[in-house]
Amino acid sequence: MQAELAGRAIIVTGAGRGIGAAMAHGLAAEGAALTIADISTETAEETAEAIRAAGGTAIAATVDVTERESVKEMIARTAEAHGKLDVIFNNAGIAQTRPFLSITEEDWHRVLDVNGLGVLICMQEAIHRFLDQGTGGKIINTASIAGKQGYEPLAHYCASKFGVVALTQAAARAFGARQITANCICPGVVATEMWKVIDKGFKDEGLTSRDNEAFETFSAGILLGRPSTADDLVGVARFLASGASDYMTGQSLVVDGGMVFV
Ligand SMILES: NC(=O)c1ccc[n+]([C@@H]2O[C@H](COP(=O)([O-])OP(=O)(O)OC[C@H]3O[C@@H](n4cnc5c(N)ncnc54)[C@H](O)[C@@H]3O)[C@@H](O)[C@H]2O)c1
Repeated sequence: MQAELAGRAIIVTGAGRGIGAAMAHGLAAEGAALTIADISTETAEETAEAIRAAGGTAIAATVDVTERESVKEMIARTAEAHGKLDVIFNNAGIAQTRPFLSITEEDWHRVLDVNGLGVLICMQEAIHRFLDQGTGGKIINTASIAGKQGYEPLAHYCASKFGVVALTQAAARAFGARQITANCICPGVVATEMWKVIDKGFKDEGLTSRDNEAFETFSAGILLGRPSTADDLVGVARFLASGASDYMTGQSLVVDGGMVFV
């Protein structure tokens, strides 16, 4: 039987670690040719090497998603290595814990630059490539439950993720006729380095008194009884990268173990 994603050329940004790395492994295991893109050259190369060691196809690309030239280079390298681009996962992101009244202009710009502008630039450059190829293509953005609900003290992060949902819907409307689809995945509470940053932020801001308290509090009501692992996002990533989702666009798939109903 042929692998589900055989022959598909896929970029995953922020794939040096965490959710992006797990998705990349899962996509490569189904036969896709991966570009592991991250601002950290070291972790991008580690993930790509691990995929190759497991028998998959992957190159590493250093990218800062907020820099257009860097994004163009990532797409050019992908086309050179894999012959084309079929799917892009815009997954790179950052988080910051900051009480609502303490968010500074600098905090806002830092978070919105990576999570908002970075996603816009990657979408634009991927769409240019899809149009030049005349093939259509798939855009899959990592939003969040924070793109569906406002949480304190993560208001600017939530604003960035609502923005990702908006960019997804707008692109779906703009490019559907060209067979370019855009969907997003909204994870819940995922045990990655990002949540360590968020949890430390709660403690540093005096909102919690011990390590892991915020993580445990946010996870407490999850209907399936546990927080997410990065691997919990792999199934939906494979689905959205595959032909099985061809007739879907503009959608946000919440994969949170049962936290937010939309
Ligand atoms: N962890 C969670 O609970 C959770 C929940 C919902 C959504 N998300 C989203 O999932 C995505 C992945 O998160 P994660 O938990 O794996 O985080 P993570 O911090 O473990 O990984 C994020 C990766 O993005 C990379 N990155 C950061 N800025 C970049 C830039 N400017 N250019 C290129 N790469 C950059 C980092 O180097 C890192 O490898 C993010 O968009 C995040 O907002 C995470």
